[in-house]
Amino acid sequence: MPEYIPEPFRIKMIEPIRLINREAREAALIEAGYNVFALKAEDIFIDMLTDSGTGAMSHFQWAAIMIGDESYAGARSYFRLAEVVKDIFGFQHFLPTHQGRAAEGILSTLLVKQGQYIPSNMHFDTTDANIRSRGGRPTNLVIEEAYDPSNLHPFKGNMDIEKLVKFIEETGAENIPFGMMTVTNNAGGGQPVSMENMRAVAKVYRSNQIPFFIDAARYAENAYFVKMREPGYEDKSPTEITRELFALADGMTMSAKKDAIVNIGGLLCMNDESLFQNARNELIMREGFPTYGGLAGRDLDAMAVGLREGLNEEYLKSRLGQTEYLNKGLLEAGVPVIQPAGGHAVYLDAGKLLPHLSHAEFPDQALVVELYREGGIRGVELGSVMFSYEDPDTGEMVYPDLELVRLAIPRRTYTQSHLDYIIKTVRKIITHADQIGGYKFTYAPQFLKHFTARFEPL
Ligand SMILES: Cc1ncc(COP(=O)(O)O)c(C=O)c1O
Repeated sequence: MPEYIPEPFRIKMIEPIRLINREAREAALIEAGYNVFALKAEDIFIDMLTDSGTGAMSHFQWAAIMIGDESYAGARSYFRLAEVVKDIFGFQHFLPTHQGRAAEGILSTLLVKQGQYIPSNMHFDTTDANIRSRGGRPTNLVIEEAYDPSNLHPFKGNMDIEKLVKFIEETGAENIPFGMMTVTNNAGGGQPVSMENMRAVAKVYRSNQIPFFIDAARYAENAYFVKMREPGYEDKSPTEITRELFALADGMTMSAKKDAIVNIGGLLCMNDESLFQNARNELIMREGFPTYGGLAGRDLDAMAVGLREGLNEEYLKSRLGQTEYLNKGLLEAGVPVIQPAGGHAVYLDAGKLLPHLSHAEFPDQALVVELYREGGIRGVELGSVMFSYEDPDTGEMVYPDLELVRLAIPRRTYTQSHLDYIIKTVRKIITHADQIGGYKFTYAPQFLKHFTARFEPL
């Protein structure tokens, strides 16, 4: 396990945060319809809503921003980014997008037809929604161990190869426009995928002529897990491991707001020439000209620097050590958490902590609300609010197996004392867990419900 080493950086600019009092937090919750996405950021003490776009950029990145080239077409910033993307990921073609979901949207628009299936270890919510909105059916085929929060499998993000083979046989390769793998598996606890498993998945997809796309948001954390846990990789650098991993695929979608440590940005990469041409046309309609793709030139430069910084070994050691520290602290406090610790977040098992609440009473949402009420901490639910849906065949509600609450750690942003405060707050919550009530929707849209839903206590 990585140790929580002193951060390999020091602070030279600060952003004040404050803890408002309990009555003010209660009032803020009511105003927000008990949805923490609707809270004002200034009313939050420690914000663990997401690690997406919330990291602290380095002085090298801020310096790169100053040389951003804002030319509409052919900007220098684009070519600097193109060089780094090619060097790390190796694909023939790339398009910058403003976020990961824009890349997913373009890919789904071009490839998914009504009733088709897209297998993955586990789709993230935006990928899931983009596929569903085109009439497709995202299918999760992660190994069974992923559903057991206490199972210590070192690569709980792995695909179940037998399930994948059977699924393709039953579905028919012609009904699968592309297959995916999410590294690391955010929806399943930020758990990594082994190189061995990626090779096996790539082989199955290739033998069935199914194009293989990686959802690459946390490519660097995955590479460091491979280095730590997979025999044969201990002496390879995270960059070498990343190159080997992406050489197995035909393309990738990526949110650069995670391991590329930028506040905004995404990538869509592929080898196929005709798909690229179509994607470029889609990009022009939705995002912008292909050499900026919905971003400013300065964003492209910050990303080019961040992509390499995200692969720095000392940084990755401290980052994964931090996650491990929080996970261990919560576990020692008696909280059921997903084990082993994932890369970017800790995941509290709300279903186990609040066993008196059914899926339909949203135990995950109840815990999210309680974290804010008790300590001004913002987390996010990854359970029935986010993932339940009406089965298109039977019309019945389908609930996820796990009711999780994620505390995502922004990169290079919080220190050990912030993590200790979270552990202390959760210890307080445990003392009255059996009195915490459930929630129901007062409003919920069809897709991506969690962002804008409103709730009331049951
Ligand atoms: C695994 C994964 N894929 C895709 C996305 C979507 O990226 P974005 O938020 O940049 O649209 C996320 C974002 O959280 C993610 O974690």
